[in-house]
Amino acid sequence: MKNLFKLSDISIDEIEAIIKESIRFKAGMKYDKLEGKRVINAFFEPSTRTQYSFISAEQNLGMIATNFNVETSSVKKGESLYDTMKTFEMIGYDVAIVRHPTIKYYEELDGVKIPILSGGDGSGSHPTQSLLDLMTIYEEFGHFKGLKIAFIGDIRHSRVAHTNIEIMDRLGMETYTSGPKGFDDGSAPFINFEKALREMDIIMLLRVQFERHEYDMTLDRNQYFNEYGMTKERVALMKNSAIIMHPAPYNRGIEISDYAVECSKSRIMKQMQNGVFVRMTVLKRAFES
Ligand code: CP
Repeated sequence: MKNLFKLSDISIDEIEAIIKESIRFKAGMKYDKLEGKRVINAFFEPSTRTQYSFISAEQNLGMIATNFNVETSSVKKGESLYDTMKTFEMIGYDVAIVRHPTIKYYEELDGVKIPILSGGDGSGSHPTQSLLDLMTIYEEFGHFKGLKIAFIGDIRHSRVAHTNIEIMDRLGMETYTSGPKGFDDGSAPFINFEKALREMDIIMLLRVQFERHEYDMTLDRNQYFNEYGMTKERVALMKNSAIIMHPAPYNRGIEISDYAVECSKSRIMKQMQNGVFVRMTVLKRAFES
């Protein structure tokens, strides 16, 4: 049984094996050993892509999926995360998917015996998002070493940026950040935005996470778009071979224009599609010894 909390727990060899297996699932590989296994999707924070691509992955694998509804649960009576997850173990679930706003929430779950796959912990990690990003990059370039990527925008609040920078550095990629200085948390070297547009192989835009700003953000949305938004003109500055990524959901008209969302350089739709296949792989992995 294997949990999945953060990619820093996983070796490079295993990361590469997960990506290659996900590509095989995308090519139609069948796997029937999880048929009939029960999975609880426990999302304590809103989610569309992660939640529903896990459900799609579970259905592809013949699993029996249940979606936990926090609003109608005993969480509303004060039940703890540990007691909630222990209950799922005792009533017969075989595996749990958990997204929770608390950074490292999984440290509370030591006594839970079923595998737990994280769908994100606050502004900590988002391992399956990073795996689908890596799969998308691998499909595009066929390797990682030496590729240059800049994360643009709200680095400070982005579990996607934090997770990706850690694993991409280990994979030999060159990682940078750019955007408003107030969002920079020193996770990677800072690069001027226009220089990043001209030199990077991958521009990964990040959603401005208004809901995580603990202070009254004075940054004007129009000003953000004018200074850092991915406009048609900025797309034109990128190298011919370079691509645009975004974990989504995106704020149209703030960090990205309507044009850029589905332009020829965008791999955003492919990222969403690949989410199903990496989630099939990590579900399979959860039951391996
Ligand atoms: N990228 C991502 O995690 O999207 P959701 O919040 O919709 O799951």
